[in-house]
Amino acid sequence: MNAPAAQTDPIRIDVTTPSRAYPVAIEDHAIDRLGRILEEVRAPERRVIVSSPLVWRLHGSRMARALRGAESILVPDGERHKQLQTVMRIYDALVRANADRASTLVTFGGGVIGDVAGFAAATYLRGIALVHVPTTLVGQVDSAIGGKVGVNHPLGKNLIGAFYQPHGVVVDPSVLATLPRREFRAGLYEVIKYGVTSSAGLFDRVTRDRTAIFAREWDALTPVIAQSCRIKASVVSADEREAGPRRILNFGHTAGHAIEAVTKYRRYRHGEAVAYGMLVAAELASARGVLADSDRKALADLIAGLGPLPAIADVSKAEILDAIRHDKKVIAGRLHFVLPTAIGSTAIVDDVTESELRAALKKVGFRK
Ligand SMILES: NC(=O)c1ccc[n+]([C@@H]2O[C@H](COP(=O)([O-])OP(=O)(O)OC[C@H]3O[C@@H](n4cnc5c(N)ncnc54)[C@H](O)[C@@H]3O)[C@@H](O)[C@H]2O)c1
Ligand SMILES: [Zn+2]
Repeated sequence: MNAPAAQTDPIRIDVTTPSRAYPVAIEDHAIDRLGRILEEVRAPERRVIVSSPLVWRLHGSRMARALRGAESILVPDGERHKQLQTVMRIYDALVRANADRASTLVTFGGGVIGDVAGFAAATYLRGIALVHVPTTLVGQVDSAIGGKVGVNHPLGKNLIGAFYQPHGVVVDPSVLATLPRREFRAGLYEVIKYGVTSSAGLFDRVTRDRTAIFAREWDALTPVIAQSCRIKASVVSADEREAGPRRILNFGHTAGHAIEAVTKYRRYRHGEAVAYGMLVAAELASARGVLADSDRKALADLIAGLGPLPAIADVSKAEILDAIRHDKKVIAGRLHFVLPTAIGSTAIVDDVTESELRAALKKVGFRK
């Protein structure tokens, strides 16, 4: 980060759901005052950190200094390890550490660690306190906020889980300095998602400040993180369990999840699949005449301008269509699709036909 911590004011965003109200604290070097922040959110006093070997190697010493005496549990991350066996390893370590209701589980890692360890916190002793300290951009702008925790089943992503709100979320952008460019980009696609669904201002800011954001300049990056967190916080506060408004955050995720599933979660980062999914939704909307072609192009240009996406040409349209039919967003037999209607607004429709989808996939570059 370029700016010294002293020049930056802490940002606090409140999430208010029926099950819990909690703050998202955004501050450069927030980790160094994590002990104080945990006191402020009244997180029970015994702390157990769950992290991954890589994150711990990169940033663990700061964490250990901030939470002196805390036990740390290291489990593998990456989508492959987002499974019950990893949860079991966390339970084992919690039992061995005699973790009890006076304990707080602190997750320290990307979305996978947050989801897996969050699920362990939700279920161990029927629930112990949870605080997320996300270390990827995806974690900081998306997965740490909103209470969705869980793991994959061999037959499908995120099939096992719970809604379990944390006591707090602590976002320290300085840890993003070590994030590989590809992972960083994957998070930026989720930021673009917020721009398209909810804020033309955010969309324009990413378009304008792209280079500085990529260089992880504090002044450029922090507002983007904060604005994304605000959007997620307000959507989640209005609809904790995704019965209505929260569904707009599925923009790009219908085709996106299908792309991930068909390629067995190996070829694309989640955000990359979502980038393709947003392009598919924009093509659908534009073909229906509900999205101006200039807006569709602005989205396509911004995505292209961030850098290369892994190839899509050899991914089968038939398999994608089949995977979409099995999507969680199918309600009473009808597939709900979030279509952009402008940069900053969306509509949810339930009448997208297979031939429309096929045409949109083709336009985006699926050749098979
Ligand atoms: N709960 C939700 O609402 C929600 C929302 C979005 C995504 N998710 C989930 O999040 C997961 C994806 O999260 P992700 O993209 O963070 O992936 P991830 O957790 O797999 O992290 C990506 C990689 O970055 C490494 N890493 C983490 N922090 C780092 C750092 N500071 N420096 C260097 N490397 C670092 C990790 O070790 C890992 O190899 C998916 O499973 C997705 O389903 C959940
Ligand atoms: Zn996502």
